[in-house]
Amino acid sequence: MAKFDFSKRDSFGSKIGIIAAAAGSAIGLGNIWRFPYVAGENGGGAFLLIYVGFIILIGIPVMLSEFTIGRRAQRNPFGAFKLLKPKQHWYLVGLMGIIAAFTILAFYSTVAGWTLEYLINAVSNNYDGKSPADLNNMFDAFVGTGTRPVIFQLVFMFLTAAIVFSGVKHGIERYAKILMPVLLLIIIVLCVRSVTLAGAAEGLNFLFNPDFSKIRASTVLEALGQAFFSLSIGMGTLITYGSYISKKENLSTTAVQVSAADTFIAILAGVAIFPAMFAFGIEPNTSGEGLVFKVLPLLFNEMAGGFYFQLLFCFLLIVAALTSTISVLEVVVASAAEQLNMSRKTATVIAAVAISILGIFCTLSLGNLYIGIPSPYPGVFKITLFNILEYLSANILLPLGGFFIVLFLGWFLGKQNVKNEITNSGKIRARLFNMFLFIIRYIAPIAIALVFLHGMGLINI
Ligand code: TRP
Repeated sequence: MAKFDFSKRDSFGSKIGIIAAAAGSAIGLGNIWRFPYVAGENGGGAFLLIYVGFIILIGIPVMLSEFTIGRRAQRNPFGAFKLLKPKQHWYLVGLMGIIAAFTILAFYSTVAGWTLEYLINAVSNNYDGKSPADLNNMFDAFVGTGTRPVIFQLVFMFLTAAIVFSGVKHGIERYAKILMPVLLLIIIVLCVRSVTLAGAAEGLNFLFNPDFSKIRASTVLEALGQAFFSLSIGMGTLITYGSYISKKENLSTTAVQVSAADTFIAILAGVAIFPAMFAFGIEPNTSGEGLVFKVLPLLFNEMAGGFYFQLLFCFLLIVAALTSTISVLEVVVASAAEQLNMSRKTATVIAAVAISILGIFCTLSLGNLYIGIPSPYPGVFKITLFNILEYLSANILLPLGGFFIVLFLGWFLGKQNVKNEITNSGKIRARLFNMFLFIIRYIAPIAIALVFLHGMGLINI
């Protein structure tokens, strides 16, 4: 008996729901947690410039490609490639996406767990009157214990699974629609407070004044990886979401709007963090993955009504993380349900448990159970499983996935098929179609390949 009924396949209920869900996937810890610390480690302004360049040149075309594949096939990524090119091995791209989903969610749920600790500390007013050094110690002590971070990680995975369990329209869409705009408002309040601190100018200068001498060989790949990670592209999340988008929607404008919103929020997060960082005398590249958790409480402490703003912010950060984690889990669940013919509910439980096991090791690797490799860099103590999974997903698996996705669309799906999907069979105009085709055929694959090979030290340009 078939357990997965394709005639009852889920879909998004409205245009605003699609944007909210896709933007909800894109906007998350990648913007608020990862962007500031990776930009900080890579010299600030020059990194931002390259990052934005990649969003426009590669990110938006890859996103549109994913939507196109998903909506055309009406399947999970694995099934989509199988359906569109049955006799070829493109489904391996879908498989790679599933592996990426595991590695991403494993470390992402670690950080998502930190947001729960942040909320508890905020509710208990534990940050009140703390110095930068105190916050540093608090964070390190928390991460170092292992048990608390693991418990919070599991709570977060449970929340994620509970939403995916209830399906697309009632789960994913409903939450994303209401809460994302409020998050935007709070970040703007944070930005205003940050740029009015004494000494803020230095931070703005760091973020917006490119200093190309700070670019290392790895910086360009880090920028590409961050662009992929932040837009949720390269592993099939947006193929999956694309498969739930109705045939009436305009895929191109959706891709542009979602990318713009995502990039705007990342930059705002930078504007909130960097001026504060300099004002409080914290070095941009010394805090590592704990950066925002060490800086933001200081910023709220400086604010009238900071206690309440911080509470609201933590809550929204948790929601932003949730709308992202569900979009990653959804890839594994949709693939397992449709390909292995399981019910959505069974697939959700199996996937969540399997990912949590990897995730626990990831969290513990930052604490007293050391799993990782010795660091080749001076001054960096060790490279943990957490760092490895983070690097592997953002800088290797996602660009590789994106590379094959644009190749597939540009060279294998058929120009007319692509055009039909993007113009809704000729019903909407796609003025930039030829440019899009040129980018996905030539520019994007070549650029991704060059950046990737260069960043991995395989070629020297
Ligand atoms: N983009 C999300 C963020 O910025 C994370 C995320 C969700 C993601 N789905 C993804 C990253 C798929 C890569 C691929 O927080």
